[in-house]
Amino acid sequence: MQFSNTLIHWYLQNKRELPWRKTKNPYYIWLSEIILQQTRVNQGLAYYEHFITSFPTVYDLANAEEETVLKHWQGLGYYSRARNLHHAANYIVTKLKGIFPSNYKGLLLLKGVGDYTASAIASICYNEPTAAVDGNVYRVLARYFGIHTPINSTEGNNQFKQLAQQLIDHKQPGIYNQAIMEFGALQCKPQNPNCINCPLRTTCKALQQQLIGELPVKEKKGIVKKRFFNYLVIIDPQRNVQIQQRREKGIWRNLYEFPLIETSNEIHLKKLLASPKFKSFTHNMNVTVTLYNTSAIVHKLSHQHLFTKFWIVAADSQIENGISWNDFEKYPVPVLIHNFVENFKTNA
Ligand code: ADE
Repeated sequence: MQFSNTLIHWYLQNKRELPWRKTKNPYYIWLSEIILQQTRVNQGLAYYEHFITSFPTVYDLANAEEETVLKHWQGLGYYSRARNLHHAANYIVTKLKGIFPSNYKGLLLLKGVGDYTASAIASICYNEPTAAVDGNVYRVLARYFGIHTPINSTEGNNQFKQLAQQLIDHKQPGIYNQAIMEFGALQCKPQNPNCINCPLRTTCKALQQQLIGELPVKEKKGIVKKRFFNYLVIIDPQRNVQIQQRREKGIWRNLYEFPLIETSNEIHLKKLLASPKFKSFTHNMNVTVTLYNTSAIVHKLSHQHLFTKFWIVAADSQIENGISWNDFEKYPVPVLIHNFVENFKTNA
């Protein structure tokens, strides 16, 4: 088929040399695909190298502490992906005798592996003709075929998957899948695609109809919830600081953070001092409280915006379970906390 042949031809001439393109080991391909769901190739490279150096086999990953795996994931966000990696590694080691599932169906049984990841691994490692449809593929197909169905609707999911499945090269499905993704990442980019030098320009519907800027269509969904976080950075005379692990379900489970008071609005010092939670965190210590960032730091997650204030709480006596600032980097923390600590250490 002309479309697929053109993409593969383009890919062989333009692809980036990446470490996971030199292997068909499903463990490495799996790691790379999960990391790349969370970040771009440039940033993903360092995470990939770090993971495979620390956990060269699925046994190493399974045997690691969850906290160590989370620490390796730090900065990528969406930490359930890291927990799922760890869970799936354990499943492979304990239930499958360490042998990676060898087809699409078996791969789907791994926690955190959905249609996209199973298709990518099965096609790249086992030559199974299963189309991997990621954001790049949606964009290329929507533009080339002039499809207006929202890519984040059930109808869109089905339509694009079906089309991609029809287009796949059965002799080299892994190359085809990577070709269309790479083409989306480098040539048919979201902004300023390189249409002038595009090998598909004479037959691209969106280009013919001047719809490059309109396609793909995405449905607007849901409202973003605002949350108001007040972190208490409780520091004692020895310059130790108090941290705690987040146990509840939802964002950042099992990551570490400062004692947190969540409120329904932004609050000021007086209200903070009057809060029962503040009293329980600081016990009977004499404390001096100052606000570190006068305007809230807005940390944006997919469905919520966290308006965050860091309150420096200087205690006059030693705190329990304090850690030194230098020990901080041993703990997995949300990037919001990491950035604060880096800033605080250089400015304090
Ligand atoms: N993005 C995510 N996985 C990819 C792959 N295997 N090739 C190209 N781009 C990708």
